[in-house]
Amino acid sequence: MNRFSMDFIFGTATSSYQIEGAYQEDGRTMSIWDEFSRTPGKVFNMDNGDVACDHYHLYEKDIEVLKTLGVDSYRFSIAWPRIFPEQGKYNQDGMDFYKKLIKRLIENGIKPAVTLYHWDLPMWAHEQGGWTNRESVNWFLEYAEKCYEELDEQVDMWITHNEPWCAGFLGYHLGIHAPGHTNMEEALKAVHHILLSHGEAVDLLKGKFKSSTPIGITLNLSPMYPASSSVNDQLAANNADGYTNRWFLDSVLKGSYPVDMMNLFSKYVHSYDFIQEGDLEKISIDCDFFGINFYNRSLIEFHAASDFLFRNAYSDYPKTGMGWDIAPEEFKDLIRRLRKEYTKLPIYITENGAAFDDHVADDHRVHDVERQDYVEKHIRAVAQLNEEGMEIAGYYLWSLLDNFEWAFGYDKRFGITYVDFETQERILKDSGHRYAEIIRNRSI
Ligand code: FCB
Repeated sequence: MNRFSMDFIFGTATSSYQIEGAYQEDGRTMSIWDEFSRTPGKVFNMDNGDVACDHYHLYEKDIEVLKTLGVDSYRFSIAWPRIFPEQGKYNQDGMDFYKKLIKRLIENGIKPAVTLYHWDLPMWAHEQGGWTNRESVNWFLEYAEKCYEELDEQVDMWITHNEPWCAGFLGYHLGIHAPGHTNMEEALKAVHHILLSHGEAVDLLKGKFKSSTPIGITLNLSPMYPASSSVNDQLAANNADGYTNRWFLDSVLKGSYPVDMMNLFSKYVHSYDFIQEGDLEKISIDCDFFGINFYNRSLIEFHAASDFLFRNAYSDYPKTGMGWDIAPEEFKDLIRRLRKEYTKLPIYITENGAAFDDHVADDHRVHDVERQDYVEKHIRAVAQLNEEGMEIAGYYLWSLLDNFEWAFGYDKRFGITYVDFETQERILKDSGHRYAEIIRNRSI
């Protein structure tokens, strides 16, 4: 039996565009995801977040689910286009939704953990270059400032950005996420400005606001293993690690971009002039915690025809419904590496979970045995890591609800609560019942 301390935080996570719906309500304007999901060929089935889980109207019902689970905290994100529907135009109605949500959470003893940016960039910002425009840092700061002003007293922890790799590389280099561009130079600029806006937003909260609310960033990290011991595969795995992990870890935690990757990327970049004096000091500003989203490991092989000489190799590991390797042991290795090479800050697992094909059974329950197994394995890994002294302060399960899974639309279900998207009925899956039990016992 592995135990958790009483101050360990158990939570669940969601994000605004994936669950809220109400895309035109109370003054909200379009985000890059509204636009992207309307572009043919981008999102499975041309699904979009117009209605999603209708959480904007059903949040009270969803808080009931959180209560049933017994979570200590709930992580959600704020939709920027609700707060600033136009450039420089603050919208109180949009903010009021989050005030209501937070009030209700607190009344129910649930700590709000708030992400400022989980990818729904307002279209007005995109039309001026989005994150590739250095001005985006100022737009983000204006937005962050309003959020701090209105919500900081009630918020338990702030996460500036969720997964800059996705917002930057998946959105501007690989074209799989909004805005769907495929230009490495743009991607590097976007990432740089996202990271800079993180640093500035931390500075703003601690400086001007003199707030003691913990603040940090969340990175998606995926350990990369070479498919063989050949020099080529090892080089490929190192490149994959640089592209996915080190570009972000080194800049945020060490204040420099990795030189090997700067060289590798330079073939696609006219100049690194967009990195200005002082930027990396800002990017690596002291935070209070470090957030990680962990889903899988990857097996990597050399591939001469790929931009950065690597690609995913065949792996015989058991997989989730996304085709991702289930790898709790590698998760532990990742945390050990972070402790050794990168940070002493408290670590929060701000997302972990799995998609599988779910079905409502005749008994009107969802027997998601595989998800339950996945979740148990990773929570056990967290407990074991803490026994080794790795100081993981909390675990947020992705996700509270089945929701709009980006380019996969509603095809992939990550929830521990099943959502019937026709009726908006919620059914707590077996994995959810099990999670409630783990939280109650504070042991696994
Ligand atoms: C992460 C995202 C989250 C969700 C999960 C499955 O990359 O942060 O929104 O899509 O993956």
